[in-house]
Amino acid sequence: MDPDEVESCKDGFFQHLAQTVPGRKELVVTEARGCTIKSADGRLFLDFISGIAVANVGHSHPKVVQAVQDQMARYAHVNVYGRFALPPQVEIASRLTRVAPGGLNTAYLTSTGTEAIEGSLKLARKYTGRKGFVAFERGFHGRTLGSLSISWKAQYREPFEPLLENVDFVPFGDLDAAGEVVNHDTAAVIVEPIQGEGGVRVPNDDFLPGLRQICTDRGALLIADEVQGAMGRAGKWFSFELWDIVPDIVVLAKALGGGLPLGAFLATGEIFSTFLDPPLSHLTTFGGNPVSCAAAVAAFDIIEGEDLLAASEEKGAELKRRLETTMAQFPEYISDVRGQGLWLAIDLPPDLTMPIVKEMERRGVIVGSMLNSDGTVRIAPPLVVAEAELDVFIGVLRASLLAVRSGKL
Ligand SMILES: Cc1ncc(COP(=O)(O)O)c(C=O)c1O
Repeated sequence: MDPDEVESCKDGFFQHLAQTVPGRKELVVTEARGCTIKSADGRLFLDFISGIAVANVGHSHPKVVQAVQDQMARYAHVNVYGRFALPPQVEIASRLTRVAPGGLNTAYLTSTGTEAIEGSLKLARKYTGRKGFVAFERGFHGRTLGSLSISWKAQYREPFEPLLENVDFVPFGDLDAAGEVVNHDTAAVIVEPIQGEGGVRVPNDDFLPGLRQICTDRGALLIADEVQGAMGRAGKWFSFELWDIVPDIVVLAKALGGGLPLGAFLATGEIFSTFLDPPLSHLTTFGGNPVSCAAAVAAFDIIEGEDLLAASEEKGAELKRRLETTMAQFPEYISDVRGQGLWLAIDLPPDLTMPIVKEMERRGVIVGSMLNSDGTVRIAPPLVVAEAELDVFIGVLRASLLAVRSGKL
């Protein structure tokens, strides 16, 4: 693109696309491969947020590209979900239910995370005949009305009220508080096993097993929101596998489609049978789109074939160690390093977070802030990240912190 085309693209974006954050965009993206994003002016950036937990196998992995081209040449959309048996849908559902534990043998495929959350809420209400939900402080589950109702931040919820009633928020990690509100009208407790937008918060080891027990004792379903945490992000297929629990419903999206839009919620066939009464209790036009499913099957095979679960755990542990060393060198700026696998975060003084994020971008590394955790910077590169790319990232982080220390920012 020549400079005029670049400026015209920025103008067009500003004029014709709905703006949800103020300000004209600074970068026009022309390509993305592996961990690298290329802008129209020829600059290269390391993507250390994976397009927000999507590019786990890297951007435009050749095997995903091939699978998409092959499936597109066969057919894309043929009919609304559930009318025909479509091999790509069967393939991805079989793979997911093969790695999911404990009877989670059935998948409903959607297009996005929030849509899968909506489906899981409907399923929990229909199956239990109850109305209420229990969710967690700092939790985030999406922007459509049902998902918004169970998402914590009042600032995002209040302008859109009235939302779902009968939702209680309790502190993440607090079993006593959860025990007080889960009752005979609770359809489900919904939890991110590791909170994403809440700041990559890993709970104590007794929290999820305790929550599982409370739900079992009181007849409520346990929904695990794995939209950010699945597909190797935390070193496992699902982050809840870090504890000895099996949720009743598991929701995923983001990395599932290998870069294409695909979500899913998993449960037992027995729980899902409630959607047959009456028939068509739940439906979507594009959910489980065959091209997205073909991309997802390719991404799944890459995660297995390139051993990316182990890579996430090992590289994540190494990166965390290096972040801790950086924290020791800059204790006045970094107050915490957290996370699991290649799903990490650091806490900075809130007023310095955006200046540091911008400085890192200027130096060629993309990181980002979090919706529900002021001062936290997300660090979640593709699981295919190379050792040399980790070196560049640490170098840029330290250079940016040095720029703050020397008063240049
Ligand atoms: C934990 C969690 N759940 C649900 C969602 C919503 O997913 P989507 O943006 O695909 O609707 C998100 C999005 O960031 C998320 O992080």
